[in-house]
Amino acid sequence: MKENAYFDNASTTWPKPEAVYVFIDQFQRSHGVNPSRGGYAMAVEAEAMVIQTRQLLASFFGFTGSANRVVFTANVTDSLNMAIAGLVGPGEHLVTTRLEHNAVLRTARHLSRDQNLAFTQVPVDPYGLVSADAINAAVQDNTRAIVINHASNVTGRVQSLQAIAEVAKAHNIPLVVDSAQTAGVLPIEMSELGISVLTFTGHKGLFGPMGIGGMIVAEGVEPRVTKYGGNGLLSESEFQPDAWPHRHEVGTVALPAIAGLHAAQRWFNTLGESLAAPYGLTHPEQARVLSVALDEDALDAPLNTEHHRIRTRDAIKHIHRTELDHLSRIRTALKQYPHVSILADDSGGEYRANSQVSTLSFVSHQVPTERIAAALDADFHVCLRAGLHCAPLVHEDAGTLASGGAVRLAPGYFTDEQDMQQLLDGLDDVLA
Ligand SMILES: Cc1ncc(COP(=O)(O)O)c(C=O)c1O
Repeated sequence: MKENAYFDNASTTWPKPEAVYVFIDQFQRSHGVNPSRGGYAMAVEAEAMVIQTRQLLASFFGFTGSANRVVFTANVTDSLNMAIAGLVGPGEHLVTTRLEHNAVLRTARHLSRDQNLAFTQVPVDPYGLVSADAINAAVQDNTRAIVINHASNVTGRVQSLQAIAEVAKAHNIPLVVDSAQTAGVLPIEMSELGISVLTFTGHKGLFGPMGIGGMIVAEGVEPRVTKYGGNGLLSESEFQPDAWPHRHEVGTVALPAIAGLHAAQRWFNTLGESLAAPYGLTHPEQARVLSVALDEDALDAPLNTEHHRIRTRDAIKHIHRTELDHLSRIRTALKQYPHVSILADDSGGEYRANSQVSTLSFVSHQVPTERIAAALDADFHVCLRAGLHCAPLVHEDAGTLASGGAVRLAPGYFTDEQDMQQLLDGLDDVLA
């Protein structure tokens, strides 16, 4: 039996591709100095890596504006705080949904209590979907942003961004997307869709480390600055410099984490390339150890961002397909038990690629949630998260709030047959 059969990829992906670990270590040793502070070669090269990472991410998310508008933050929670407080002020209104993570729910609540901001939480249907019509109906004259979670971290259900983006466009209101559960798993064409602020976190599907996230802000969208401090630029100025991304980036950036995100972006590209090769890659274990060309000397060379966009999309589709195969097996196993309910289960009865990411939550009407989780952990070494998953309103709507939430299972790209066997045996043991 494996010591850790890991099914908590909705919390954070683990393990990461080997190249991510290696490059963080390597770059920290060779260039671990403060970028954009010093004029010496090592600091300039460190800054070049940071700039390239912005370019890689812009291309990865189909953003056609300047890569300077890729702002690094600590995580998606940080990005959502900055986007919401930057776009919606006292006396103004925010449209959001009951699907959201506490990253949005608590931010809206605090701003409402402390700064007189109003908000509407649009309801969700029994299949975990929000209708664009309901969003439209919630818009008011003073609405300054629509904030939507692309995929729920409880149910894995994916929202149609296209229809919601059309509503936002029709009202000329910025659309802010929380891509925590979809970045790296579904292709997101930010500019084509008309997303105003795409917020992301580095440590989930993007395969980076913890401590790095970001927001990409479309041209013409100007959130107010919500944090202040030094960034190595115009030290004589009493206020934040206007230049992007520095107006929103304060203090020293998380260089080791950006290096990890950089390596992960290169890894997606290499994976896409190997999938297309005649005798290309056939197994995630090969993908995990793919050698990624991370030439330090090339860090300030021009990038072929169009290649990056195409290859990474191939990699994303392959990752998503692989993950959904695991999820389908889990779903089939759970469906054997009449006393088990899967939250907001797909109405079509199967996982369609654009409607589901690799996460589901379930409850049993016979075995308490915490007992299922404890038995899977103790007897089968299954790592999972049971409870409310920082999304209490999703559980309130599912009727699982008072009973301690649900058991969440999130297989990942690196889930292997042994992991699956341990989980399926465990489910059999606990639920039969
Ligand atoms: C939908 C969603 N939003 C926000 C977050 C918060 O992510 P982070 O802790 O990286 O800021 C998560 C992570 O659990 C999430 O799933």
